[in-house]
Amino acid sequence: MRAVVYDRYGPPEVQRLAEVERPVPKSDEVLIRVHATTVNRADCATREANRRSGLAIMLLSRSISGLRRPKQPILGSELAGEIAAVGAAVTALAVGDHVFGDSGFLFGAHAEYMCMRASALIAPMPANMNFTAAAAVCDGALNALWCLRGGGLRQGQRVLVYGASGSIGVAGVQVAKSFGADVTGVCSTKNVELVRSLGADRVIDYTQQDFTRNGETYDIIFDAVGKHTFRRCKGSLTPGGAYLATDGFRNLLLSRRTAWRNGKRVVFNIPPRYTQADVVFLKELIEAGKYRAVIDRVYPLEQVVEASRYVETERKVGNVVLTVSDDPAAPPAP
Ligand SMILES: NC(=O)c1ccc[n+]([C@@H]2O[C@H](COP(=O)([O-])OP(=O)(O)OC[C@H]3O[C@@H](n4cnc5c(N)ncnc54)[C@H](OP(=O)(O)O)[C@@H]3O)[C@@H](O)[C@H]2O)c1
Repeated sequence: MRAVVYDRYGPPEVQRLAEVERPVPKSDEVLIRVHATTVNRADCATREANRRSGLAIMLLSRSISGLRRPKQPILGSELAGEIAAVGAAVTALAVGDHVFGDSGFLFGAHAEYMCMRASALIAPMPANMNFTAAAAVCDGALNALWCLRGGGLRQGQRVLVYGASGSIGVAGVQVAKSFGADVTGVCSTKNVELVRSLGADRVIDYTQQDFTRNGETYDIIFDAVGKHTFRRCKGSLTPGGAYLATDGFRNLLLSRRTAWRNGKRVVFNIPPRYTQADVVFLKELIEAGKYRAVIDRVYPLEQVVEASRYVETERKVGNVVLTVSDDPAAPPAP
């Protein structure tokens, strides 16, 4: 089968298209014919062994994905595809089922076929989505769901999503709205209309206004793009409010330190513990018309290097999809 492989850590150019052996499912696994996948920030960070995040994080990254070279040569965590074979013990899924999901740090989705445990983060694909859109859901949405639940989000709370145009940000706005929150999105001028269209009650253009100086306060500030700090956001939190982090070793320390107080706190629960029920929850949200995939660019699998370079600009809007095969039997995009 065709797959994108990398044998050493480094820039996008370490990736190349290759012929590799098709995996065979174990008894509790399914073989998925991947129709679409994505290039996301986790792929890029893992490919370069998190070298931009400092020595400690780089060593941690290598201790997980391979000290000298990557143990898993195929990146890609998000997928949408079709079940091509099932292991002997699998009863919940059958050949021909359309599924979407996320393999997390097991990766393997930048390929024509991949195996996943039937109990992993996969679920039947939303009825109103095609493969291209369904591949662009889980990474941002699972992350947003995990963070917002961790912050104790309740109906009627005031939530500010900082970096509302990124993969996690576009998900954060929609998930917070689906929880019944009052949502303010913060993004740059060119993304204001998009963020409004996702349901944000208010949108602040960060090139025009600094939300930390406008006198408004929020129960939750979700830093969906890892570009803000607790210190600068603190004055904009209500008493007992939470700053939700997606990045940064410092936030990990702060989350431990502030967890014991009644005051304003940092929430950064890692590693996330996503469940298959979360993927099913997202499917239902999509089918209820409360969530849509935001796709910036679509590249064929062969152009993974170009796609990765674009993701590394840290300017993508929503998600960048890689199409692995044609999207034949899929219903039209919503
Ligand atoms: N996605 C993952 O797999 C994953 C997993 C774990 C952690 N994280 C972390 O989570 C964070 C977000 O990831 P992501 O994939 O959602 O990011 P992303 O999609 O790459 O974010 C890009 C978006 O952020 C906006 N942006 C850039 N600089 C900004 C700033 N200073 N203020 C406000 N918005 C800004 C950009 O629009 P403008 O430039 O037009 O503002 C762009 O739309 C990152 O720190 C990442 O390391 C990601």
